[in-house]
Amino acid sequence: MTDVSTHFAFGENWRNYSATIDEQRIGSAVEDLARLLGTNSLKGLSFLDIGCGSGLHSLAALRLGAQKVFAVDIDPISVETCNNVLSQSTTSREWECSVTSVFDLPAKTDQRFDIVYSWGVLHHTGDMWRAIKTAAAFTKANTGVFALALYKKTPFCRLWAIEKRIYSHLPSVLQRPLLAVFSLAELSRIGLRGNNPMSYVKNYPRKRGMSFWYDEHDWLGGHPYESSSPEEVKSFMTELGFDLAQAFVPKASLGLSGTSCAEYLFTRRSAAAI
Ligand SMILES: C[S@@+](CC[C@H](N)C(=O)[O-])C[C@H]1O[C@@H](n2cnc3c(N)ncnc32)[C@H](O)[C@@H]1O
Repeated sequence: MTDVSTHFAFGENWRNYSATIDEQRIGSAVEDLARLLGTNSLKGLSFLDIGCGSGLHSLAALRLGAQKVFAVDIDPISVETCNNVLSQSTTSREWECSVTSVFDLPAKTDQRFDIVYSWGVLHHTGDMWRAIKTAAAFTKANTGVFALALYKKTPFCRLWAIEKRIYSHLPSVLQRPLLAVFSLAELSRIGLRGNNPMSYVKNYPRKRGMSFWYDEHDWLGGHPYESSSPEEVKSFMTELGFDLAQAFVPKASLGLSGTSCAEYLFTRRSAAAI
């Protein structure tokens, strides 16, 4: 099993965040998943959630009618949180959460899924391209889709990778003031652009049901960290036998205050390439 002690404590952050999950956040997650997958119904479909975090998006898949959800995460606290969230918010029994790294999935199951979903995960594995290839292989040939979100490369990404390595290893007593300063700077930047920072935080759950404060901590600490350009992702996936169905790419930026995830939906042409 992969050593999780070298990673940021994602699970702890998801456990704390999960206390904020309500019907409004679930509704946003459902809407957002439907947007990315380009459909309002997952009826009868199997769904593999790699790096499930809080489990909110596995829940969204079940709410959209997915027949079976398999959620995995390397962090035992993420998996415990996912178990709690799903037990509390769905009547479906057709789900399973497991402490499994993407790299250990081939030893865990030989099943192929209608939908493989991995949002904001594979760039945190320490070996992003191998993680993408491993995840992609779980997509059903000819009919399956692979939905993933990856940090978009910016000129400041290298600096952020160093910042994350340091922040993720600091004790929480030191992380807290840094988080406060960074969050305030972020809100000031929003204010300087003419937007109301209070409304920004209040409306933040519209972004996939997320929370501004927990996302800031996740951004500062998300180690290991890699990023990619849409061109790199498209050419890598084409070689694996996938076609791009749609992409949502954030606009170009220097990345001084961080970067956002580009989202991709790929369809699998054939089983041959992987
Ligand atoms: C930024 S969170 C994203 C969570 C969720 N997908 C979401 O969109 O809310 C990244 C998650 O990936 C998990 N992760 C990191 N490395 C992993 C690996 N090798 N295999 C599976 N999960 C991993 C972390 O533990 C964390 O829960």
